[in-house]
Amino acid sequence: MEVIVSQAKARISVLAAQMIATLVKRKPRAVIGLATGSTPLGTYRELIRMHKEEGLDFSRVVTFNLDEYVGLPPTHGQSYRHFMDTNLFSQINIRTENTHLPDGMAPDAAQACRAYEDRIRDCGGIDLQLLGIGANGHIAFNEPGSPPGSRTRVETLTEKTRSDNSRFFRSMHEVPRYAITMGIGTIMEAHSIILLASGRQKAEAVAAAVEGPVTAGCPASALQLHASVTAILDRAAAGKLKGAYPSEPQKPIV
Ligand code: PGA
Repeated sequence: MEVIVSQAKARISVLAAQMIATLVKRKPRAVIGLATGSTPLGTYRELIRMHKEEGLDFSRVVTFNLDEYVGLPPTHGQSYRHFMDTNLFSQINIRTENTHLPDGMAPDAAQACRAYEDRIRDCGGIDLQLLGIGANGHIAFNEPGSPPGSRTRVETLTEKTRSDNSRFFRSMHEVPRYAITMGIGTIMEAHSIILLASGRQKAEAVAAAVEGPVTAGCPASALQLHASVTAILDRAAAGKLKGAYPSEPQKPIV
């Protein structure tokens, strides 16, 4: 895993956006895996700026998001579809039909999961996957214990994850108990992966993911087995790492 430790959160957002932009310029039909949460927001803001000020063209880009809550319709303010529409898709020239999220309202969730995997495959696989990390080491909603070979499926959210995400809901009772998530095996098939983390609350999970043993107890540690992962961290998130790492990329990752 290549690790980059930048001074400021703003810098990690820009670095990730530059990597995505490099790919989109080289391959206009790029298939990009996207994430929700607080972490990628700065990256999305920078991509929007690049689109508006520099003409970065998303007209042929295809996206697949990592996950979606079960039971929240796309119109719900906390659905991940709503998050992506608001924070990225509505502000760039991507075609709505090229943006994919798992269907959290599907009557047959297992079938929806299979269809999601098929759609990723039909689009040629994911070129570049953007990932955050949970304070418990999860990637997407693959909670500790998730098998490394897991595929897109319904996952029960841990109480830790529900409580971390409750800040976006009026009360803990409203936080969904289930989500459809890409599996670790699905994520590992992406050609390249960017793992983004900022803040002290992520330091332990980052250390376990980057320098700890590969174990289902820390789902993000599976990324050590992937050939092309770049972890882009701010100093706080890197606070528990033992190694010394550069503050800028040493080679292009896409
Ligand atoms: P966050 O979530 O970006 O809101 O911290 C990351 C995650 O849980 O994967």
